[in-house]
Amino acid sequence: MKSFSINHSRTVQTRLILPPDTNHLDTIFGGKVLAYIDEIAALSAMKHANSTVVTASIDSVDFVSSATAGDALTLEACVTYTGTSSMEVYVKVTAHDLIKDEVRLTTESFLTLVAVNEQGKPISVPKVFPETEEEKHLYETAPKRRENRKKRSLIR
Ligand SMILES: CC(C)(COP(=O)(O)OP(=O)(O)OC[C@H]1O[C@@H](n2cnc3c(N)ncnc32)[C@H](O)[C@@H]1OP(=O)(O)O)[C@@H](O)C(=O)NCCC(=O)NCCS
Repeated sequence: MKSFSINHSRTVQTRLILPPDTNHLDTIFGGKVLAYIDEIAALSAMKHANSTVVTASIDSVDFVSSATAGDALTLEACVTYTGTSSMEVYVKVTAHDLIKDEVRLTTESFLTLVAVNEQGKPISVPKVFPETEEEKHLYETAPKRRENRKKRSLIR
């Protein structure tokens, strides 16, 4: 079975936050950040699976701090764990105040994306392996998150 490192799927995007992206407090709309997170998670998962993917769930989004117009918003995503057809993707968002040259964490999120064929049916994906300490932590804690996700779907 083919396998790729977590780093193989690492994807980074930087965007300038402009006034139309912000609310009356001059900070970015949460929904805007969510759309960016969903997009970069899909890019990362497609890089890993080399197939079409769909978002199955977003299990957590923590808005740790806000980002304001004029900040550079950087999103970084990687596949941290895989099942048969599903991939857990971790997304970290930081805001860079380019005037003060200060970087802060704004948002973290875990999503599950599923590789699908042309009929939209799940297909198997390569395994993933960690290399750095941070990647090992994300990989080793993923089964617990997967278990929590399964418990949550039993509620429906
Ligand atoms: C996600 C989807 C492909 C799963 O299809 P399915 O026929 O239910 O397939 P299965 O039950 O065999 O599940 C396939 C995998 O998805 C995972 N999965 C399904 N629903 C999930 C959920 N809500 N959260 C996390 N993982 C989920 C399963 O655990 C399984 O993982 P594994 O193969 O690694 O073990 C299907 O529900 C779908 O197409 N949903 C709509 C996706 C979409 O349109 N997203 C865009 C946002 S609207």
